[in-house]
This record gives sequence, structure tokens and C-alpha cells, in this order.
Amino acid sequence: MIECERTYMDYEDIRVPRGVHTVESMNYAWKEFEARDDDVFNITYPKSGTTWLQEILSLIYSNGDPIPVKTTFSWDRVPWIEQHAGRSLIENKPSPRLITTHLPIHLFPQSFPKTKAKAIYTIRNPKDVCVSLYYFSKIAQFMECRDEFQDFVSLFLSKDIIFGRWFEHVKGWLTMKDNPNFLFLSYEDMLKDLKSNVIKISKFLGKELDDAAIDSVVEHSTFKAMKDNPMSNYSVVPNEIFNKEEGTFHRKGISGDHKNHFTPAQEEEFEKIYKDCMKDINISFS
Ligand code: A3P
Repeated sequence: MIECERTYMDYEDIRVPRGVHTVESMNYAWKEFEARDDDVFNITYPKSGTTWLQEILSLIYSNGDPIPVKTTFSWDRVPWIEQHAGRSLIENKPSPRLITTHLPIHLFPQSFPKTKAKAIYTIRNPKDVCVSLYYFSKIAQFMECRDEFQDFVSLFLSKDIIFGRWFEHVKGWLTMKDNPNFLFLSYEDMLKDLKSNVIKISKFLGKELDDAAIDSVVEHSTFKAMKDNPMSNYSVVPNEIFNKEEGTFHRKGISGDHKNHFTPAQEEEFEKIYKDCMKDINISFS
């Protein structure tokens, strides 16, 4: 039987689930990993569209051929650099390597700026991130959870949340917004118009796909396609790690679900903290 504990490890100033992350794996990501010019990073705060980008990037690099996304697990195709399985997966991959991370900017690979590697950062409305993470923490047996959503909001707003608070994560990464090797996407925008975002991503990566390939990327990266794809929907992960009795990884895939969860008082408190933390930042969520 696989043991899974809801215990965390503090690394520098952030908290990560223990087991899947180790001091060695975090050191590798930050200090030892050697970036290559054609590496592509998929960077997100958790629950902001990580798996979605893993699918889209895989499909773009297969020129729209769905075979790789139907035969290889998403976490092997576009592995997390900070996880303990990351090093061997990444080191053994031929270029161009597609790599995922939830790391805040100050713990991102130090070798990255010395290369022409590219990075895509996807932002999602933090209130929807909070709702998504609340449900995910019930499924994911390695995450600290709360029975009541109301209590989870307090955890989300505290520095004890995994990978640090959303506010600092987003603000840190937004300092890269004028760097030509970075592309910023919004989850809400992708929901509204997936095709134009796929075209934008392809152009940014210098992968000019024809119309049929673009249509195939879109077709195989919709919420429904991914929810039905056992290589991307985490259905094969044992219940000791992802307890499917608590729900599915692909939950709703919508924007605005926070309206069904936050009380007016909580909404007000959240807005106040948002305004305070993000006062110099010009982003909006449709
Ligand atoms: P919900 O819990 O709101 O449904 P991550 O991959 O960063 O962990 O994010 C997971 C969130 O993205 C979940 O949100 C999941 O349903 C949503 N998601 C995954 N694939 C998606 C897709 N193809 N389209 C829209 N949302 C998707």
C-alpha cells in the first residue's frame, strides 16, 4: 500500500508537499539544473491551468498529432522540475524539453536567464484558484485540507499555503512581463477563445502550425477531451494519493465559480487584501 501523508516541507520561504518534493529536488531545480536554449517552461501558481498548458504544449510540439497525449502521462511529457522524479525525467529528455513548475520567481532555475529558453506564465482569478485548490486538497492526499470552504480561504490567504501566496507568486512573475522570452496568458481568456490562444502560443514558440494542426491542438485540449483522457485526468493515480471518492481532477473548468462559494463578507475581505497586495499591478479577470 502507498503511504501518503498531508505533511509539508519548508524550503527557503515556501512550503511544499513533502515526499514528492525533497531538499535535493528543490536544490536541483533552483541551483543545479542547466537550462538549454530550446527549453520551454510552463509556469503557474497551482490550479491556474497547469495541466491545460501541459496538454497544449505537448500537442503543439507533436504538430497536432494526438498520439503523444493519448499514450504518455502528462506528468512524464511535461514534468515538474521541482519534484523528485523531475531530474531524471528532464535529464533524459531530448530537446526541446517541455518543463512544468509552480516555483516562485526567486527559486526558479538560476541558469534560465543565461539562455534563450522560453517561459509561459498562466494567471487565473485568485478566487477561482482558491475554490479549485479547496476541492483539490480533498482529493490530493498529500495536501493540507479543511472541511469547510470558509476555513480554507484563511489558509489560502496565509503564508502556509503551498508555493507561497498567490499574490506574491503572481507579482514576482509579472516583473518578467516585458521580457521577450516570456508569454503571459490568462485562464479566463483561454476559456473564451482557446484557438486564438493556441495560435498565440505557437507563434511565441516559433512553431508555425497549419490550420489543421491548430484545430487538432484545440480539439484535444478542450475540457471535455482532457477530462476523458486517462493520460491527463489523473484517474490512474491510486486512491491513496488521489482519492477519487472525493471528486475528479477535472472538476468544472469554468470561471466565476467563486460566486458559489464566497460569502459577501469573505468576498469583501478578499477584495481588500487583493487591492492592498496588487495595488501597483494592472491586471483584470473577465
Ligand atoms: P476547476 O477545479 O475549477 O475545475 P491545474 O492544472 O493548474 O492544477 O488546474 C486545474 C484546474 O484547471 C481545474 O479547475 C481543472 O478543471 C481546470 N482545467 C484543466 N483542464 C482544463 C481545460 N482543458 N479547460 C478548462 N479548464 C481546465
